[in-house]
Amino acid sequence: MNEISRRQFLDFMGRAAALSLLPACALPSLRGQNTNLPFTPLKPTGADDLILASGLEYKVVTSWGDILNPKQERVGFNNDFLAFIPLDPRSSNEGLLWMNNEYHDPYYTRGWRPGQEYTAADIVKDRKEVGGTIVHLRKREGEWTVVVNSKYNRRLDGFTPIPLISEQPIFGTHRAIGTMGGCAGGVTPWGTILSCEENYHNFVGEVEFLNGKRTHVPAKPYLSWAKGPPLPPEHYGWVVEVDPRTGRAKKLTALGRFAHESATCIQAADGRTVVYSGDDSDQEHLYKFISAKPGSLEKGELFVADIPAGRWRSLAREKDLRLKAFFKNQTELLVRTREAAKMIGATPLNRPEDIDIDPLTRNVFVSCTAGSKGGADIYGSLLKIEEKDADPLSLEFTASTFLAGGPENGFANPDNLLFDPKGNLWMCTDISESKLNTPAFASFANNGLFYIPFSGAHAGKPLQVASAPRGAELTGACFSPDFKTLFLSVQHPGERVHKRPQLESHWPGGGDSVPKPSVVAIRGPTLESLLR
Ligand code: FEO
Ligand code: CA
Ligand code: CA
Ligand code: CA
Repeated sequence: MNEISRRQFLDFMGRAAALSLLPACALPSLRGQNTNLPFTPLKPTGADDLILASGLEYKVVTSWGDILNPKQERVGFNNDFLAFIPLDPRSSNEGLLWMNNEYHDPYYTRGWRPGQEYTAADIVKDRKEVGGTIVHLRKREGEWTVVVNSKYNRRLDGFTPIPLISEQPIFGTHRAIGTMGGCAGGVTPWGTILSCEENYHNFVGEVEFLNGKRTHVPAKPYLSWAKGPPLPPEHYGWVVEVDPRTGRAKKLTALGRFAHESATCIQAADGRTVVYSGDDSDQEHLYKFISAKPGSLEKGELFVADIPAGRWRSLAREKDLRLKAFFKNQTELLVRTREAAKMIGATPLNRPEDIDIDPLTRNVFVSCTAGSKGGADIYGSLLKIEEKDADPLSLEFTASTFLAGGPENGFANPDNLLFDPKGNLWMCTDISESKLNTPAFASFANNGLFYIPFSGAHAGKPLQVASAPRGAELTGACFSPDFKTLFLSVQHPGERVHKRPQLESHWPGGGDSVPKPSVVAIRGPTLESLLR
C-alpha cells in the first residue's frame, strides 16, 4: 500500500483509530450518551431465525458454497472473523470482505454419517472447506452484493502454500501447507488481515516434547486429516497475515504458537504496533506483542500476562536465563510458546478468546468464555486490562473483571467483541453446542449479540440486539467504514443435530433446506441512531 492510500485507509478505518491516539484525559467526555435507547432489547428466544431488535433488518450477503470466480472456487464453511477493507478509502460502497473459514461440518459438506469411515478423498474435500475467503462486495441499489468473478475473489485453504516467517526453519522448512482453524482475528494499521489459527489440533494433532523427544499426538477422528499426507502440527497455531488485495499470506511466528484467538492491533505513539491475542484453551494465557518497527509484524517482542503482578513478562529467550537454558533458539521457544509462558509465571485464564480495545480509554477487554479446571466458571466473564498511563507499550497494567456472565446479567460465554466509535461495546456469545438449552443455560435460549452502553441509564448492561438461529453462534461483527452496516457471521447453524429430516435449523433458506453458515449485513435506523 503506498503512503497516500495508507493514510486514506487510516482515515477511513476510523474514527476509532484516530480516537485511540488522543490523550487519555481528553477521552471520557467523548463517550456517546445513550440515555434514551433507540430500540427495545430482545428477550431470549429459541426460534430458528436471525431475530433482530426493533429498527434493524438484515440481508444475507453470501453463504457457504457460493461460487466466487471462474475457477469455480466457492465460499468456505463456518465463517467466523470478518473484516471489511474498503477498496477506495473515500467510498463506503465497495470493498473486500475477508472471512475466516474456521472448520467444516462433514455432515453438511460431504454427507458424512456418524460412524462412517473417512477416506483420503474425503480429506481433500475437507481441506478445501477451511482457511479463508476474500469476497469483493459492492453496494447496488443500496444493498451489499457480491461482485461475482471479481479478480479479488479467492480462497486460501488447507492446500495453500504459506511461508513461515521465522529465524530458523520449522520442522525442516520455511514453508507451511495450508491454514485452518481461523477464529477471531484482526486488521493491521496498514490494512492487512490477521487470521488466527485456533484449534489446529483438531485437524493435524499436536506435538509434545518430553526429555528432548518429539511425540505426535494424533487428532481425534472427527475432523482429522491423518488419512491425507502428513502435516506437522508445528506449522499451525500461528497468526497468518493476508493482503486482501493479492491473497498473499505469511505466518508470523514472532507472535507465538498456541490456540490463537484474536490479534487486536493498536498503534503506539512511536508508530510501532501492539497486538493482543488470547490462547483459547482452558487455563492458557493472554499475550501481547510489540513490533520491532512500524508497518511490520515480522519481528518484535512477545509478552505474556502475569495478572496478579500486573506485569507483561517477556518471552525473549535472550532476556531470561531459564528460557535460555531450556530452548536452543527463539524459533524453538516460539513453537513451544505455552511451555515458555508457564516457565516465566504466565497466569492461567478461563479460555481467553476475542479482544477489543475501547477507543476512548484504550482499555483492553478480553472475553474469558468459560473454564477453570473443575468447571467452576461455566458462564465466563469479560476481563478489563488497563495499561499503565493508557500506553500500549507499557509493561505494567491493572486487571479487573468488567462483567460476569450468568442469569443475573442475561448472557453467558462471551466471545467476539467489537467497540464502536462511540466507545460502546458489542458482544457475541458462544454457548457451546453441548450446553445450549440445557438446564443451566435455558434462560439464555439461543446465542446472541448484545450491545453494552458504557454511559447513560443503561451503562454496563448487556442489551440483546440479535438472536442466532438454532445451534449457531454469531461472530465476526465488523462495521462498514461509514458505520451504517454491521456485518455479522452466522456460524454453524444446525450443528447439533446430524439427522435428517429432523434438522434443528433450516436457516437461512427455510423450508426443508439444509442450514448454511452465512454473512449478513445488518442496517436500519437503530444502528444509525446508536452510531450517530
Ligand atoms: Fe473458535 Fe475460541 O472460538
Ligand atoms: Ca471464537
Ligand atoms: Ca468460542
Ligand atoms: Ca464456535
